[in-house]
Amino acid sequence: MYLGIDIGTSGVKVVLTDNGSNIIGSETSDLKVVRENIGWSEQEPNDWWKATNEAIFKIKDKYFKELKNVQGIGLSGQMHGLTALDERDKPLRKSILWNDTRSSNEARFLDEKYPLFRNVCGNVVMPGFTAPKALWLKNNELQVFKKIHSILLPKDYVRLLMTGEKCSDMSDSSGSLWLDIKKRNWSTEALKATDLSIKQMPNIVEGSEISGKLKKSIADDWGIDRRPVVAGGGGDNAATACGLGIINHGDAFISLGTSGVIFLATDNFIPAANDGAHSFCHAIPEKWHLMSVILSATDSLNWLSEILGRKVSQIMEDLDHINHGPSDLMFHPYLSGERTPHNDANARGAFLNISRNSNTKDLIRSVIEGVSYAFADCIRVFENANIKPDKLIAAGGGSQSERWLEIISTVTNTPIEIPTNSEHSAALGAARLGILASQDETDINSILLKPEIKKTINPVINKSDEYQQKLNNWRDLYSSIKETKE
Ligand code: XUL
Repeated sequence: MYLGIDIGTSGVKVVLTDNGSNIIGSETSDLKVVRENIGWSEQEPNDWWKATNEAIFKIKDKYFKELKNVQGIGLSGQMHGLTALDERDKPLRKSILWNDTRSSNEARFLDEKYPLFRNVCGNVVMPGFTAPKALWLKNNELQVFKKIHSILLPKDYVRLLMTGEKCSDMSDSSGSLWLDIKKRNWSTEALKATDLSIKQMPNIVEGSEISGKLKKSIADDWGIDRRPVVAGGGGDNAATACGLGIINHGDAFISLGTSGVIFLATDNFIPAANDGAHSFCHAIPEKWHLMSVILSATDSLNWLSEILGRKVSQIMEDLDHINHGPSDLMFHPYLSGERTPHNDANARGAFLNISRNSNTKDLIRSVIEGVSYAFADCIRVFENANIKPDKLIAAGGGSQSERWLEIISTVTNTPIEIPTNSEHSAALGAARLGILASQDETDINSILLKPEIKKTINPVINKSDEYQQKLNNWRDLYSSIKETKE
């Protein structure tokens, strides 16, 4: 038996599996985000631990016998969150999360002053990443900064409490922006740029390697007979890729969650920083990935649902009845700024061409289209790097709408496969890494399998020219809005 523990932003999810494909049980426990100021987003590190225990105890209630036999555990989690600890390993303050944008000045400063962040650490410095958050701390909470004994990412704080080890994996560490992505090691120069040193960083292992063993007292508490090994694990997207078998060069998935992601596995480090894409290590050895991220995918629907007073589930139903082909309206989904391709925390959304006749369905249709065009921008970044995926595997709540996937498939000119079940991909991927860490000789390909596909959505060829024309106008609109602002 194996456990995957995913420390998400809205909750902790735990899955129990016997072979990495068959899910015996899964449980979640909710988490709250604290927003004390505009652009701030924080969590209490100890809440992650409480939620982890709550979810494990729910599993224990239902699967007591199976839980006893757990041999390996993997962790995955929300990336980038700055969790600063004092010399007794106690959190010095709340963790500053991935979607906190307070450090945009620090990000700009680091990006302009130190080309190594783009060249060596593989990314434009964005406020979402950990390094500019640390510099913000130095600039704004110097007393806290001075006391930093170590810095951990969210899932690695939970690991510390589980194993006593300060350790991270390559994929999650990539999002700190202190990692030399090609060499898969900390960059002392990048750390120095934020007045930190390697002594404050955890040990790093591959996601499929052992990071430590579960403490005896916790194994007893959780009802596990032996002390299982805990794998390095992965950042949530790399772990999802492991859950969906996205590991070979050119394999890719698209995730339609709150934020939207297109993740492309690669055999080498491919920098694409100038297009606002992320170049990170994968959670398995000698593999990397390129990742495009848009900040408001289903979150654009959440916003629309609030404005229209219509449930998201109703909106999803409406989607099935919208007409084929581009609408007259235009929507930019930059409600919380944008990462790929604009890297602009201050970008904002827009509606264009609304008329006296525009109705609810037209708004829904244009929002869906706008998010789909943003995904087309994500694919264009990969094309610029000379690697376009042949197909995408769909994950995330939004992928339940086949009509939406059809629009994305048409505007990106890429077939999209819908798995029979992709609900638990990150936690399942983490559990799979737990299997690999606990078994010496196991072939990675035999565990990180692709899911069963229930349907493939293909581009609607006779609509693609119309969409392409509209996509070009949509891109021009952003350029003109940007010019007006400047
Ligand atoms: C990736 C990213 C998100 C977070 C939250 O760069 O910011 O995927 O990990 O899920």
